Amino acid sequence: MNQLETGETPKAAQAVSNFQDELAEVLRERAAISAVLRAIASSPHDLQPIFDTILDSARRLCRADTGVFRLVEEAGFRLVARALGPGVSEDVLPPKLVEPGTFQGDFYSRLTASKLPLHVPDVALELHRADEATREFIGRRGLRTLLFVPMLRKHELVGSFALGRLRVERFTEREIELVTDFTAQATIALEIIRRERQQGQLQTELAHANRVATMGQLLASIIHEVKQPIASTVINAQAALRFLERRPPHLEQVQRVLAELVHDGMRASDIVDGIRALSQKAPSRKERLDINAAIRGVIELTRGEAVANGVSVQMDLAQGLPLIEGDRVQFQQVILNLILNAIEAMSDADEGTRELLISAGKAEPNGVHVGVRDSGPGLAPAALERVFDAFYTTKTSGLGMGLTICRSIIETHGGQLWATGHTPQGAFFHFTIPARPA
Ligand SMILES: Nc1ncnc2c1ncn2[C@@H]1O[C@H](COP(=O)(O)OP(=O)(O)OP(=O)(O)O)[C@@H](O)[C@H]1O
Ligand SMILES: [Mg+2]
Repeated sequence: MNQLETGETPKAAQAVSNFQDELAEVLRERAAISAVLRAIASSPHDLQPIFDTILDSARRLCRADTGVFRLVEEAGFRLVARALGPGVSEDVLPPKLVEPGTFQGDFYSRLTASKLPLHVPDVALELHRADEATREFIGRRGLRTLLFVPMLRKHELVGSFALGRLRVERFTEREIELVTDFTAQATIALEIIRRERQQGQLQTELAHANRVATMGQLLASIIHEVKQPIASTVINAQAALRFLERRPPHLEQVQRVLAELVHDGMRASDIVDGIRALSQKAPSRKERLDINAAIRGVIELTRGEAVANGVSVQMDLAQGLPLIEGDRVQFQQVILNLILNAIEAMSDADEGTRELLISAGKAEPNGVHVGVRDSGPGLAPAALERVFDAFYTTKTSGLGMGLTICRSIIETHGGQLWATGHTPQGAFFHFTIPARPA
């Protein structure tokens, strides 16, 4: 009995201690995985911190000396992130770009062919395929045990995660599994960012197509708008000539007429600049913006259209608004679409006044609020959300993309766009944009 007890106790103690070790290991792994998830959540647009967190955790948990992420390029495997253990020097790593056909490149070729983790327990045993220089090089640098895990997108190799040890020590099944999990997370992050970029590109294309279509729609009234200052320039110039021919010349009159001439010239040139800016296809850019100036620019472009449709335009732009940050052309596109929708809605109605009010004010807690309110037929409660659906239109020549694009632009800038009914009539579109952080 006694013997049994003494025999059992150390065994039990050993089991408890093993269990504790195991538990500690699992907890460390879980903490590492949640660190990676946190990195993904807090930097959804940037891969670097995600790769760095994964590398750091995996290298420490697997007691490796080096950890490297590489992405597939046409020329080979490009290093995008790396982690080194304490005291490990940079030059134990293969070159930044590992090319196929080289000693290191062969590991990657094997990975490409098998698409499975590749474990190299002792690099020295592989050196027979290396040339003299490489053998000497590897011998000196001394990474001895390697583990490569493929990053796959739909069965296609897009990159790899590799851990290295300066000593000969096999990676355990558990370590290989852990690294495989980490690599899967990195691949997901890579995919999210790739899709996001693609979507951004698609949004830019769509927005540009919408601007070009809108400018086409406005062309007749804009041409009319530009011809006016040009015609008055000619008349004013002729008047100036006549005032100069007088004996003595009427210089004061000439001065007045020339000032008007300058004003008209600038107005025509502003309109043309506005058209050019809105028609261009430029990648989205961020600048500090005065929303009131952006609104005035759009009103300038739509003035002719408003006049042609008998719409009176009012502005109520608060002074001292905070600057916002974003793409001027995109904001102007939003305002332009909202104004054109309002003019179109009002010109469909036969009766009643046609009034358009564009307002800008402070939004709580900080930021700006822009409102576009008309006196047209308005929106039924059921339509308040539907109007933002893609391809929702009630117009024979509409595409139904205007408001969809507006909402996506505003949301990309961290704001909101919505519609409310406006009593007794008319539609009221609003958007808010956060102020640029100080
Ligand atoms: N100010 C408004 N008053 C009443 N209805 C509106 C107003 N603005 C939009 N709508 C309704 O919402 C629909 C969708 O507008 P949206 O701008 O997305 O597309 P569209 O103007 O029909 O076509 P386009 O793609 O050329 O802009 C319109 O067809 C119209 O029925
Ligand atoms: Mg529209």
